[in-house]
Amino acid sequence: MIKVIFVCLGNICRSPMADAVFQQMVKEAGLADEIMVDSAGTSRYHIGEQAHRGTLKVLEKHDISYLGRARQLTAEDLELFDYVLAMDQSNLSDIQAMVKQQNENAVIQLFLQQAYDNNQVDVLEVPDPYYSNRFDDVYDLVRKGSQALLAHIRETHGL
Ligand code: 4NP
Repeated sequence: MIKVIFVCLGNICRSPMADAVFQQMVKEAGLADEIMVDSAGTSRYHIGEQAHRGTLKVLEKHDISYLGRARQLTAEDLELFDYVLAMDQSNLSDIQAMVKQQNENAVIQLFLQQAYDNNQVDVLEVPDPYYSNRFDDVYDLVRKGSQALLAHIRETHGL
C-alpha cells in the first residue's frame, strides 16, 4: 500500500481539496486498494472542523464528496506516509522541522513539484484561498497537481 498525505496550514481549504480530488482519481484508476490518501494541517487552528465551505462548494460542483474533518499532522504521520506533500513553502519548512526519525523512503516535497517539472503548471505553491476566496483557481492547480502526481506514482511503483 502506498500512503499519500497532503498537508497545508489549516487542513480546511487546500489539503482537503487535494485529498478529495486525488482520492477520486485513484478510485477512477481502479487503484483504491493500492494507494491510501489522507490530509492534515501543520496548525491546530481548525482541528475537528469540516472543510471550508469554499472547498466543499467547488468539490460539489465537480461531483466529489468529502467528509473529512481537520486534524493536525503528527510525527507518526511522517514515519507512516510514503509521500508527504506540502501545499506551499511555509508548510514544507514546518514539516521538515518536525522530521526526526524520518521514514527513509519518504518523499517530502511540494505537492506541485511533479506538475511543475512537467511544465503543466508554472507555480510551485498552491496559494491560500482562506483570505483570497479563489477556490476555483485552487481547484485547477489541485487537478493538475494530482494528475501529475498520480502519473509519477504509477510509473515509480509500476501501477
Ligand atoms: P488551508 O487554509 O491551510 O488551505 O486550510 C487556511 C485555513 C485557515 C487559516 C489559514 C489558512 N487560518 O489562518 O485560520
